[in-house]
Amino acid sequence: MTATTTSPGLTTTRAPFIEQARAAGEFFIRQPYELYSPDNQETWRRLYARIRPRWEQYAHPKFLEGVANLALDPQQIPRLEDINRFLEPLSGFSARAVSGYVPAYQFFDCLRQRAFPTTITIRDGATLDYLPEPDIFHDVAGHVPMHTDRTFADVLVRFGAVARHAAERARAVSDAHARVRRVESNIKALARFFWFTIEFGLMRVGDGLRAYGSGLLSSYGELAHCLESPAVQRFPFQLEWVINQYFEIDHYQPLLFVVDSFDHLYAQVDELERWLHAGRLDHVSPGEPAVNERDLESFLQAQ
Ligand SMILES: [Fe+2]
Repeated sequence: MTATTTSPGLTTTRAPFIEQARAAGEFFIRQPYELYSPDNQETWRRLYARIRPRWEQYAHPKFLEGVANLALDPQQIPRLEDINRFLEPLSGFSARAVSGYVPAYQFFDCLRQRAFPTTITIRDGATLDYLPEPDIFHDVAGHVPMHTDRTFADVLVRFGAVARHAAERARAVSDAHARVRRVESNIKALARFFWFTIEFGLMRVGDGLRAYGSGLLSSYGELAHCLESPAVQRFPFQLEWVINQYFEIDHYQPLLFVVDSFDHLYAQVDELERWLHAGRLDHVSPGEPAVNERDLESFLQAQ
């Protein structure tokens, strides 16, 4: 019997190209399109074909418009340069390939500069539903279509500015211990805000609800569950609740928040900024998400 070798291609957690880039300390990388294996392409096709009808039913109309405007190809993994040709004239945003985990401050600061750190690997086709970390389907099919909308894009930029102000404000604290405690609390508040809006947000559309959060829009199972299941609590967005609400990433979300419009969402980021300066993000409730050393350092070292 002869052994068959399948190329690892650009499969999540198994891509030598990514390992090398990380080892070399490269943060932004190129998308080595030629490395996608036939299996990788097949995974994209299956993910896309499976979720498309659910988008029609549950996705925010602006998201569907975005998918059309980007000319996302159901048949093959997108090239970021093609995506950006459509995206940049619409909102000034671009998708930029990264080698993996982006520390919190850098991630938010990229948004402020209208760049979206984008994962280029794709999940293993054997586990379509299980997502140990983001992949190109989550990032490009889940996030990027929303970036074609100007108001939504402005929300991200504004949010990035709040993160920058949080880092600046922390620098003014002379006591090192107090500075770390404050930054930790600020990061938790920002991460929770981001989670319950950009990743898992629902919006009122007409007399129903639609998903605009990318975690929902890139999950075949959760996209229907979040809007149909009686096991999900859906509440009007309340800032004080959101920044104090812990979340867990390894199961469907039992609690989601609803905004009225993208203008409403933008106004909430403005409010978040006011709360930052009033010290209301300095002592949020403990619990998830845990703030890791790299996220903390990224804020403390921010220039
Ligand atoms: Fe995401």
